[in-house]
Amino acid sequence: MKTNSFITLAAMMIPAFYGYAENLIVIETDNIALVYDVADDNRMYQRYLGKKLQDTKEYSLIPNGPEAHLTHGMEDYFEPALHINHPDGNPSTLLKYKGHESSTLDDGAIQTVITLADPVYNDEVKLFYTVYPEHDIIKTHTTITNGEKRPIELEKYASSMLHFSNGDYYLTQFNGDWASEANAIETKLEYGKKQLDTKLGTRANLFCSPFFQLALDAPASETSGDILVGTLAWTGNYRFTFEVDHRGELRIISGINPYASQRTLAKGETFTTPEFIFTLSNEGRGKASRNFHDWARDHQLYKGNETRMTLLNNWEATYFDFNEEKLKNLMGEAKELGVDLFLLDDGWFGNKHPRHNDTQGLGDWEPTADKLPNGIKALTEAAKANGIKFGIWIEPEMVNPRSELFEKHPDWAISFPNREPYYHRHQLVLDLTNPEVQDYVFGVVDRLMTENPDIAFMKWDCNTPTTNIYSHYEKMNQTHLYVDYVRGLYNVLQRVQDKYPDLMMMMCSGGGGRSDYEGLKYFTEFWPSDDTDPIERLYIQWGFSQIFPSKTLCSHVTTWNRATPVKFRTNVAMMGKLGFDIKFDDMTPEEVAYCRRAVANYNALKPIILEGDLYRLVSPYEGEHTATMYVGKNDGDAVVFTFDLNPRYKQFIWKSDANVRLQGLNPSYRYRVTEIDRTDGSDLPLGEYSGDYLMTVGLPLFTLTRLNSRVITLNVIQ
Ligand code: GLA
Repeated sequence: MKTNSFITLAAMMIPAFYGYAENLIVIETDNIALVYDVADDNRMYQRYLGKKLQDTKEYSLIPNGPEAHLTHGMEDYFEPALHINHPDGNPSTLLKYKGHESSTLDDGAIQTVITLADPVYNDEVKLFYTVYPEHDIIKTHTTITNGEKRPIELEKYASSMLHFSNGDYYLTQFNGDWASEANAIETKLEYGKKQLDTKLGTRANLFCSPFFQLALDAPASETSGDILVGTLAWTGNYRFTFEVDHRGELRIISGINPYASQRTLAKGETFTTPEFIFTLSNEGRGKASRNFHDWARDHQLYKGNETRMTLLNNWEATYFDFNEEKLKNLMGEAKELGVDLFLLDDGWFGNKHPRHNDTQGLGDWEPTADKLPNGIKALTEAAKANGIKFGIWIEPEMVNPRSELFEKHPDWAISFPNREPYYHRHQLVLDLTNPEVQDYVFGVVDRLMTENPDIAFMKWDCNTPTTNIYSHYEKMNQTHLYVDYVRGLYNVLQRVQDKYPDLMMMMCSGGGGRSDYEGLKYFTEFWPSDDTDPIERLYIQWGFSQIFPSKTLCSHVTTWNRATPVKFRTNVAMMGKLGFDIKFDDMTPEEVAYCRRAVANYNALKPIILEGDLYRLVSPYEGEHTATMYVGKNDGDAVVFTFDLNPRYKQFIWKSDANVRLQGLNPSYRYRVTEIDRTDGSDLPLGEYSGDYLMTVGLPLFTLTRLNSRVITLNVIQ
């Protein structure tokens, strides 16, 4: 009886929603289309994913592909997107179409929601597709609602399942380690399964970034080839599964890593998965990156369309060894450099267990009296006197066992009741599934801000992945811990944002551990790596720039790899959000003077670097040189950064075929080409050129001087 009434209801609903011949559901951006079909069996199949066709009717000519959102226990032999254990022991789910509808959201996005349900068990699955037409970005997530009388268990609950039927697939992943993040590695997918996943708990990344590129048919370049770029907006365990079957068809399943995370759903309860965000480009990786950058600035990143502050951070200048006087001196240096903000890093708190090193004090957010006798107030005042803003480092989700907080609330830490804890950097993770702990973490920010309303910036760190995976919170289902931790974090961050909307925040996690788009709804930028060696940074920033805009990539000039000239180090940092982590004692007066000029130049170039279009011209992976350019929006001025890493003896870089072609310019405009702080002996022919010439013939951007760098500006001649 139940089955019959379900089919009747579906049959009644279908005609009301369909706009196309057959039963097609067409989800389109300006350039890409994702098309589903509801077949006679009332199950939904993916018909098409690719470049949008001019005539929508022609989607009817394409045969159906696999079932869209495959489930465990039915006819399919490969990895499912959904696996539900029903209370009667049946582990299978069959999804039939119920209806779909589209609406326009407040931010202009168009959202299509497709409702599917199991006719036997009544569990309902909604597939959400949110489309940003001009950016060619599609966000997709699902909700799963328990329509049964008793609790159900979710074994697998992906955000998205996409199918491809191309000749070959080339996957680029971005992995590494602490201080070596986001290295691009491309491999061809063959029959079988490849999984990229992490189970770090508090963060998505340490060894593998939560994004990938998938080139279709042939490897993509920066400017050509079909490529899908996707990422999961989730600051925790994620999993991407790429499975090629015996017919050469590929499925990509994206979502929270279901590892040790079965979800129990009570009757009527709904589970919402995070967003899987993707774009498809027919013009290679570069276009896909620009799609992400533009979309992020307009729709996802906190204060995405506002500029960013340059800063001086004391971490690498002092580490834990500072006092009020030293900090005041550094603020004087920040003023001289001309940066916007002074950022006080780790080591300012704790009295019973002062934070003189990383073994103690975390959790006790009181200024250390012998270091800062006049508290934070004296520092915000000093910043004001220097005409700069003040920012402060916190790591509020973590605790050192040697702290007053831990002495008072040992049960607030995620740890086993009956085993020796494993410490990562001498600390434990606080249990954000517990509302009391959420209040405490929010209180860390709230108290600092209430007592020091002049704080303009926070660096929010998170150094410890979740180990000792056990919650002492009495309401906790232990298999919910990984997921509910992240949700607890978002609750806290939302409270911070609601109460302190002007506060700008850097997301940091022992380097680039937190580098995901859900986190960036609350943060204005992130710290890609503790490795600030400029040569390494060229690779790390190249990796993260694939999906994150330059205004999110904090890049600091430090003493790492002092063998590189300060100009080289500064030019690398200028490609992102410029900062300094260095004191004047570490530089010659000439180098300090160079940095001052660089800050002034950067300020003038900010609208191009931070808001413009990124073109990666020559990859550092090619070995000897690298170049990147930014073009101001609406055919504006441009800037090119070039770096000579390891020029080879007798490398004929002055021949015209060694010219580098620029990109993104207007061919009919004329540009004045100049070099900022030109180094002696440089042979770049400066002057006036058409955009056509610069993009067709190009310029000899590189030199044979090891560790030389150039900043070349292109100004439109009116
Ligand atoms: C982490 C961060 C660093 C610095 C230290 C302070 O390692 O990534 O930038 O803030 O913590 O302890």
